Amino acid sequence: MTALVVVSHSDPDSLTHSVSRSISDAIRTSGGIVETADLAAENFDPRFAIDDLNLYRGNGTPPADVLAEQQRIDRADHLILAFPMYWWSMPALLKGWIDRVFVSGWAYEYNPGVEFVKKLDRLVVHLVVIAGDEAESFERHGVYDAFRTQIERGIVEYCGATVGSTTFVYESDSRPREDLAVEISEIGIAVAARVQDQPSHSGARNTAPTYSNSHATV
Ligand SMILES: Cc1cc2nc3c(=O)[nH]c(=O)nc-3n(C[C@H](O)[C@H](O)[C@H](O)COP(=O)(O)O)c2cc1C
Repeated sequence: MTALVVVSHSDPDSLTHSVSRSISDAIRTSGGIVETADLAAENFDPRFAIDDLNLYRGNGTPPADVLAEQQRIDRADHLILAFPMYWWSMPALLKGWIDRVFVSGWAYEYNPGVEFVKKLDRLVVHLVVIAGDEAESFERHGVYDAFRTQIERGIVEYCGATVGSTTFVYESDSRPREDLAVEISEIGIAVAARVQDQPSHSGARNTAPTYSNSHATV
């Protein structure tokens, strides 16, 4: 089992990095292979630039940094996204990574008049979200529904991938570090168990992407 852990946080001492290390360690302990994409340390550029827009419009080929990210994901059966909750969503760095990397021709294929194809059906995605707020507030404001609609359905399932697990850590700015350390260790073990339990559909991708244009309405 091969996993790619994508971590989006500028501080290596953050809870987000702690949870990503905990997950990576637990997967390795259970015999899996793990690669890490540390988007901040690697200076991934999240700006959707003209080359990205041209690709979306059906012109040109993916920029080299985008191709490198797609190849990392192609090597993985499981994709783990670890991020702090910012404004009830993900940080701009991770959103930009998704905007630029999950493009037509690789993540899905849409051409007007032709059947829409979801191309990431072999991939299982795990979401691990570190949040400052309380669980009760999430319930009250409908944050879970928003998250399900916007991220699980709007991104993961749109591309045909399966949501393997979604985990929230609450009150990250206010709880004692020792409590959080215990929880983070448990999350590592739990996510690694889900990775072991949920085989991907067909192993790492071995078919070439075909770049076309546009984002379908489904
Ligand atoms: C720009 C910004 C926006 C935030 N928005 C939210 C939010 O919408 N909901 C929430 O629960 N916490 C929010 N927080 C709190 C962070 O989620 C919290 O500081 C983080 O999870 C702490 O973990 P870390 O050590 O990995 O940074 C926000 C923090 C920042 C900096």
